[in-house]
Parts: sequence; C-alpha cells; structure tokens
Amino acid sequence: MNLPNMIEAKKRDKKEFNVYNYKNEECVLKNKKYFIRTYGCQMNEHDTEKIKGILELNGFSEVFDVKLADVVILNTCAIRENAHNKVFGFLGQLKHLKESKKDLLIGVGGCMPQEENVANEIKDKYKYIDFVFGTHNIDNIIGIINECVLNNRQNIEVYSKYGDVCEGFPFKRDNGITAYVDIILGCNKFCTYCIVPYTRGAQRSRSKESIIREVQMLKEQGYKEVTLLGQNVNAYGKDIYDNYTLANLLKDVSGTGIERIRFVTSHPWDFIDDMIEVIALMPNVMPYVHLPVQSGSNKILKLMGRRYTKENYIELYNKIRSKIENVSVTTDIIVGFPGETEEDFNETISLVNQCKFDGAFTFAYSPRENTPASIMENQVEETVKFERLNKLNEVVNRYSNENNSKYLDKVVKVLVLGQSEKGNDKLMGYTENMKLVNFIGDKSLIGEIVDVKITDAKSFSMDGILLN
Ligand code: 5AD
Ligand code: SF4
Repeated sequence: MNLPNMIEAKKRDKKEFNVYNYKNEECVLKNKKYFIRTYGCQMNEHDTEKIKGILELNGFSEVFDVKLADVVILNTCAIRENAHNKVFGFLGQLKHLKESKKDLLIGVGGCMPQEENVANEIKDKYKYIDFVFGTHNIDNIIGIINECVLNNRQNIEVYSKYGDVCEGFPFKRDNGITAYVDIILGCNKFCTYCIVPYTRGAQRSRSKESIIREVQMLKEQGYKEVTLLGQNVNAYGKDIYDNYTLANLLKDVSGTGIERIRFVTSHPWDFIDDMIEVIALMPNVMPYVHLPVQSGSNKILKLMGRRYTKENYIELYNKIRSKIENVSVTTDIIVGFPGETEEDFNETISLVNQCKFDGAFTFAYSPRENTPASIMENQVEETVKFERLNKLNEVVNRYSNENNSKYLDKVVKVLVLGQSEKGNDKLMGYTENMKLVNFIGDKSLIGEIVDVKITDAKSFSMDGILLN
C-alpha cells in the first residue's frame, strides 16, 4: 500500500525526471467487461483513453451499462467540492450493486486519491473499493489490479512523488476525428486556490520529437484535429529546453500538415508575443485561445497568486484580439474567492464588460484542503458566492450571444464531429474558432470539414444550413 502525502506533493526539486516506455504486464483477469466514468477536465478524459487502451490490450471489453460490468473504474476530479460529492454519490450506488454482485471489482483513480484525506477515507471507511491509483501510476493499472485480485484485499497505490513521464501508451481514442495529445504534465504555478499542482505534480514537458511523432501518426490514421494538452501549455519546454517554446512547438506541429491544431490551457503569465504571431500566421493553428483571467480585481489576483494585473491581462487580450483574425477568446472566472468584496466582484463584471469574451467558464470558489486560500481570512458566504455567480453568468451569456450573432449570414468552416443532440437528422461540429454549430446533413459528412451558413445564433451554439 502507498498513500499520498501533501507535503511530499508540494516539493519541487530540480531533479531531472525519467522518460520510459509503457510496458505491458499480463492481467490475471481474462475476458472481463469494464465500465469507466470520467469526471473533470480534458486531461482526465485523456487519462481515461490511456486506461481504456491498457484494459483492452489485456482483453477487457467496454460496457456502457454499469450493471453488466465486472470491473468499474471512476477516474476522478478534485478541483471543486461538487466533483468530489458526485464521485462519493456514485460510489454509494456501486456499494449496493456490489452487494448483489460479489465479484465486482471497484477502482478509484485520478486526482481525488492524490488528496491525502480522500485516500485515508477510502482506506478507513470504503472497504468495498478494491483498488485505488493516482495520476502518476496509470501505466501500472494492471499491476495494481493483479495485486488486488491475487491477494484478495484492497490495494491502494498512490504516489505523491511526481517522478516520471510514460511514453507509448496504448490509447483507445473514442472518435477517429479529434485527438488529445499531452504536451506538458503537472503544474508549478501554485495558484493559491488550486489543488492541481498537488494532484498532478511538477511541470514535465514531453519531448518535441515524441509529440510531433504522435501527431504525425494521428494524421496518418486519418485524424483531422489535435488538441495539445497541459494545465499550462504556455510553460511548454521551459523545463527541458533552453530555447524552445510552445510557439516553436506549434510551428513544428503545424508542419505535420494535420488540418487543425488547438491547445489548452494558457496561463496569461507565459503567453509570449511569438505565440500570437504563430497563431496568426499558421493556417492550421486554430484562432481560439482559452485564457483564464480568474478575477478582475488586482487585490484578488494578488491573493490568488496569479502573477499578473488586470491591466496586464487586458493588454494581452487586446493584442490577441487585434493581431489574430477572427479569433475567439474564452476564459475561466472564480467568484467568491476569500476577501472578495462587492467592489472586487464589480471589477470582475467591469473586466467582462470590457473584454466581451466569446465564452466563460464560471465557478464559485470551493476551498480545497491544504491549499493556502482555504485558510485565508474572510471566506465568502455560499449564498453570496452563488448570487455573484448568477449575476456574472447573465453578463457572460449576453456577450456570448452578441459575439455569436456577428456570424449571422456568414459562412463558417465546420469540422463535423457527429450527430447533434438536437435531432437525428442534424449534425454538429465546431468552427475554426471553436463555436458549436448544428445543421441538417447526412451522417456521411462526419469527419469532414464543410461550409455552413449561419442562420441563428444563441449563447452556446449556432444553427446553420449546409452549403456544400
Ligand atoms: N474553486 C473554484 N474554481 C476553481 N478552479 C480551480 N480551482 C478552483 C477552486 N478551488 C477553476 C479555475 C480554473 C478552472 C479549471 O477551475 O477557474 O481555471
Ligand atoms: Fe491550477 Fe493555476 Fe496551475 Fe491552472 S495555472 S492548474 S489554476 S495552479
């Protein structure tokens, strides 16, 4: 058994990390069915693709009804309390399922077990959970399952020491059109509200060669789009190269000729001018930037440890808007951070009024154990947080709608991803600048880039008619 440790998780020594290749271990379970549920961000979704790939390499097959599964895995998120509550809610249901199906194996992985209190709670109170793994040992999931089965007892294997980078995962990607590609793991920013640097460890860039090779391979397999992933992609390269940044990587990935390249998430602190140039110049680097601002108050930004002022942010934002044609910019905003007064909140509203974002993901501050903000004075009451969140959402949605309305009667290029939730005869896909478009069309167009004329614009999507 290995339990996580928050003090260990905070350490950032200068030690170089190891890069090793995925090595398969034979699973003692044969021909089993698995069910997996993923919570949280794209990074977690991508980790799930790794878990699925490893399980299927070992003869497992996926089922989408949990009652049919022999093994159930929850790949969890720790970013806010509600993600945490959802996982424990589902675990309650699984306990009942296990009572009628004794051989069922339940595994919990991802960010939540990296929290010391969660791992201890599982050890002490959730004896029916069979195996637990963290974000640093996904490649060993078969070993963890084997040990649990062979010893017939709960197996908790969670490491806080961030260590290494595993290459060559046998991914199972869900669609053959768009693919996630990790470029940098972990985060060194330690924003005071955020648990990610503890749960995902230190910043570790993958080598440019492995990334370019992976994109090349995806292109050869017919993928049209890649999204380069990291908690802070703009820090790419800093830990392994003297002079090779995300701007250089984008240029090189662009050289593979894949049709669309995206990247998330960008921290404003590391967003250099070269990046703006590359996005503006390279036709296959998409004009879409997700640039979390978090707050419009300098006092709160400082307390958050964000390392920029509202003025720095607006300057960068305006540069991006003016230099990249047709760019769309979205953001993340937290309301109710400790010490946020009505005045601070109004400054956030005023920043949104100034920036007129294409979209924003908005959150009520959620204290995370062991993070500095969780013990700051002047925590804001929940009711106040949610009042502010509602007010903010109204303003944010107004601008999303306004921005989308600019596309009325215009023709946009849509990469068709599948059938729309709006009806069986409808398809859905995304524009170059990441707007969701629904339109009537034949299923054979899935995976193609088509011209669509926009006929209706809402806050979260647009409708259109197919032109070709
Ligand atoms: N409470 C609320 N929102 C948070 N985020 C990160 N940590 C917290 C927290 N403790 C938000 C930030 C980040 C996004 C992924 O989640 O806005 O950019
Ligand atoms: Fe969390 Fe800040 Fe790192 Fe983003 S940059 S993952 S908000 S610590």
